[in-house]
Amino acid sequence: MLLSWSTWPEIEAFLARSKTVVVPIGSNEQHGPTGLLGTDWMCPEIIAHEAAKDRDDLLIAPTFNIGMAQHHLAFPGTISLKPSTFIAAIGDWVRSLAGHGFDHIYFLNGHGGNVATIEAAFSEIYAEASWSQRRSGFSLKLKNWWDLPGVMSLANRQFPVGHGSHATPSEIAVTQHAYPHAIKAANYAPQIAPTGPIREALDFRARYPDGRMGSDPALATPEKGGELVATAARALIEDVKAFSAEAPVG
Ligand code: NI
Repeated sequence: MLLSWSTWPEIEAFLARSKTVVVPIGSNEQHGPTGLLGTDWMCPEIIAHEAAKDRDDLLIAPTFNIGMAQHHLAFPGTISLKPSTFIAAIGDWVRSLAGHGFDHIYFLNGHGGNVATIEAAFSEIYAEASWSQRRSGFSLKLKNWWDLPGVMSLANRQFPVGHGSHATPSEIAVTQHAYPHAIKAANYAPQIAPTGPIREALDFRARYPDGRMGSDPALATPEKGGELVATAARALIEDVKAFSAEAPVG
């Protein structure tokens, strides 16, 4: 069940049977010479929408599609929030949803560069309750889609070499599965990109001239993406179920 395709009375009725909502969250940033700029928000959205297909007990919020991607800003098309803006925006999303009564808010993340800021946002939000010596009334959870049970082991079997950490064949395969009309090809060298640290945008572009980190995205296929989506969607349903079963706070 998708929040965007629902009416407010439908959401009011949903709240009578569940107070859990899943928010896909990602980033709009360069993904090498063949990866779509939307890769990091598309992956969690594709997985969440697959999981929610034909289910009225799993509610997916609109995708939060801009994240913390300052290190990719030397590549055209990247759009980034700085950490403080991102923290403020996550807070407003949470306060909006919690205000309606959602007490379990699950963020399914698609961008490693978001993790530190999302966790900082959670601390900021909880601190509002802590400072006033009251219960927050809701639980927040962050899960990266590749950390869902079974996903990384499948990706390791599919891509034993050349997986890397940015513009990976697994994330690109997921987008190829969902959007076969947007599959791109390019010549690039070396076949497997270099690895190293992440700092500011010009340093990043100097180290990783075509945007890839440690990866060979040409290994991606729509079929492998389909396997990843099916595994991740099944695991997401179970993970959200377990999260929902935790007693609500306060
Ligand atoms: Ni990515």
